[in-house]
Amino acid sequence: MDSFIVSPNGPLNGSVKISGSKNAVLPVMAAAMLSDGVSKISNVPQLKDTKTMADVLRVTGCRIKQEEHELSIDASDINYLEAPYELVKTMRASFYVLGPLVAKFGKCRVSLPGGCAWGPRPVDLHLKGLEALGAKINITHGYVEAICDGKLKGNTFSFPISSVGATANILMAATLAEGTSILQNSSVEPEITALAGYLTGMGADISGIGTRTLIVKGVEKLNPGNAPTIADRIEAGTFLAAAAITRGKVKVTDMVPEHQTALLDVFRSMGCEITTGNDWVELSAQDLKPTHITTLPYPGFPTDMQAQLMAVLATVKGASSIRDTIYNDRFKHVSELERLGAEISLKEDTALINGGSELTGAPVMASDLRASAALVLAGLVAKKHTEINRIYHLDRGYENFEGKLTTLGAKIERKID
Ligand code: UD1
Repeated sequence: MDSFIVSPNGPLNGSVKISGSKNAVLPVMAAAMLSDGVSKISNVPQLKDTKTMADVLRVTGCRIKQEEHELSIDASDINYLEAPYELVKTMRASFYVLGPLVAKFGKCRVSLPGGCAWGPRPVDLHLKGLEALGAKINITHGYVEAICDGKLKGNTFSFPISSVGATANILMAATLAEGTSILQNSSVEPEITALAGYLTGMGADISGIGTRTLIVKGVEKLNPGNAPTIADRIEAGTFLAAAAITRGKVKVTDMVPEHQTALLDVFRSMGCEITTGNDWVELSAQDLKPTHITTLPYPGFPTDMQAQLMAVLATVKGASSIRDTIYNDRFKHVSELERLGAEISLKEDTALINGGSELTGAPVMASDLRASAALVLAGLVAKKHTEINRIYHLDRGYENFEGKLTTLGAKIERKID
């Protein structure tokens, strides 16, 4: 298993280009299954998770070609309606094939994803939404079996809580249902808006895009899609956090500043200087102040940025706090940051950070994707060397992370094992 050795090398400086969004491209890849032809997606990040999704689609009979950041998915010969445990267990987003397959073929079998690094992550809303559209769901031997008589039937469904994954799955399913579906309390994350845009490009009839009520008039069939992937707002946020933790100045380009309002507000409240352009944000940091963060569904502060901000706040003198209302036990990184000398205590869904203590390198273990990024950030300022093990988590979602950090002046080496 590869690891990173990170050593402090002063403030980061320069500019870095952001890749396509992992969380946006995964549902779009699943959406390609809804047509009978060859869909194209550009600006696709080269990541472990996009490879896994390609493997999931291949199992069903899709033919996939990837050249650099261009992906083509030929869905004309889907002949095996199953997503196997071996793949779904390694990436929950494989569950996205459920909606498209049952909508197009009237049946499918998808492994239950199981828990994840920070606890249980149910899929009940995906299943309830599909049932509302007329699918019969049976859970047996760890698999979800979904069938419907003929086509799915449009219906009104209200998500009891905001769920990105369930919104994506039910939205895809509704595009080929008979009649109109009204999806209330849908998620409004940019990744959902991007998916709705891709589906519209395929010929889906969706209104209310970008609002909490999506109205989907089912169509007979969809054409292949062709669109670029939006920029990864979490990768962009992570590089801004890297600038903040090293008290550096970094321009993050090829991103969408409007997707970062809550995060930029937090950085400003900490005393960072923020300049924005059409598709870039520059963050410059010197003396920083503590702050209090609560994660919320978009447009609130993203749970996927809380670990990275925790690393930054551990270096800021004074009392800060981070409350995670999306995943209230997503705190595996706390004990690893403590190994580096951070002072953090946990009280229910809140981490209380007594910031400003000196961090010193130590061997640490990455527990999930964003926790790994937080440990790398801490390593950028911890004295001596920080060895971060199990960085395969990081490879799931950051394209060329060490290369990009190196161009900004970081000292980071991959130890291949
Ligand atoms: C997506 C993102 C993930 C991010 C999360 C929250 C992808 C591939 N992953 O995950 O990076 O951290 O959004 O922004 O895009 N829930 C249920 N039942 C369900 C589904 C969800 O109770 O059927 C709960 C979850 O436990 C959680 C909340 O709803 O508390 C939000 O989860 P959700 O938005 O669905 O997260 P994912 O789509 O899995």
